[in-house]
Amino acid sequence: MKPRIYVTRKLPNQIVERLSESCEVRMWEEDDKPVPREVLEEEIKEVDGLYCLLTEQIDASLLEGADKLKVIANMAVGYNNIDIDAAKRLGITVTNTPGVLTETTADLTFSLLMATARRIPEASEYLRDGDWKTWSPMQLTGQDIHGATLGIIGLGRIGEAVAKRAKGFDMKILYHNRSRNREAEERLELHYTELNTLLRECDFVCVLTPFTSETNNMIGKEQLDLMKESAVIINTARGGIINEKALYGALKEKSIWAAGLDVFEEEPISLDHPLLTLPNLVTLPHIGSASIATRMKMADLAATNLLDVLLGEEPPNRVV
Ligand code: DGY
Repeated sequence: MKPRIYVTRKLPNQIVERLSESCEVRMWEEDDKPVPREVLEEEIKEVDGLYCLLTEQIDASLLEGADKLKVIANMAVGYNNIDIDAAKRLGITVTNTPGVLTETTADLTFSLLMATARRIPEASEYLRDGDWKTWSPMQLTGQDIHGATLGIIGLGRIGEAVAKRAKGFDMKILYHNRSRNREAEERLELHYTELNTLLRECDFVCVLTPFTSETNNMIGKEQLDLMKESAVIINTARGGIINEKALYGALKEKSIWAAGLDVFEEEPISLDHPLLTLPNLVTLPHIGSASIATRMKMADLAATNLLDVLLGEEPPNRVV
């Protein structure tokens, strides 16, 4: 008998076909709406494998009702949506999709940095709104990227890929990480600093660290107050690493110059959120890895991880 799996969102046909060769597949068929919790609670009771996205909260109470579950394959590199301790305690393997999204997410991080520094969305809107009456010396002026100092918080794969891009812009690069990476320091000409020094000295700060109990609210009012008035902060990692209330205060008071966010504490962010009233904030709907090729690779890698565990092999990307 084939193992049974549940897929929490409509996947591209070729991935479903691949899964169906070895598994009995049930799937939440909607593309733009996450599976309701009560549906997931029922489905998970009967399956050997769960293929899920970062939009599903896979917590202990859900897992305790999943007697047959052997593997959770998350189609994301981040796995803060899954209670890893509970999965470990219950003997459930958890996998993620690192590597395949590194360059694409670094591209987006750098794009957001540039869009924020040079006010690109605001300038585009200015033109379309009919406000462009003439060219004038200080109209829509932004911050220079080339030659500026960039601070990377979290020097994982994506952090390094952002550093490579920054080198092309002749940026000086500081980084802060749980542990020093002397090999990367040499290869990419990076300078390790304490977090507060990085915040004080950088023109641009990119948050690229995973969301954990240690990084939750890592950047609050105290940290934002250290930053330059001309500084730009970018977050393409996870909402909640920068405290949104504190960020709102800093942007509103102009104690920092601008921010670019691809991720939020609550996703989707509510349209009446105060942050969305600010002109010096550029926002995106969590699209860091959203290129066609990369999303296909992530979907395929999550399938490989899931199938390997169900077929008794070691998966390429085991978290626990
Ligand atoms: C991840 O993989 O964790 C991203 O946030 C989505 O690609």
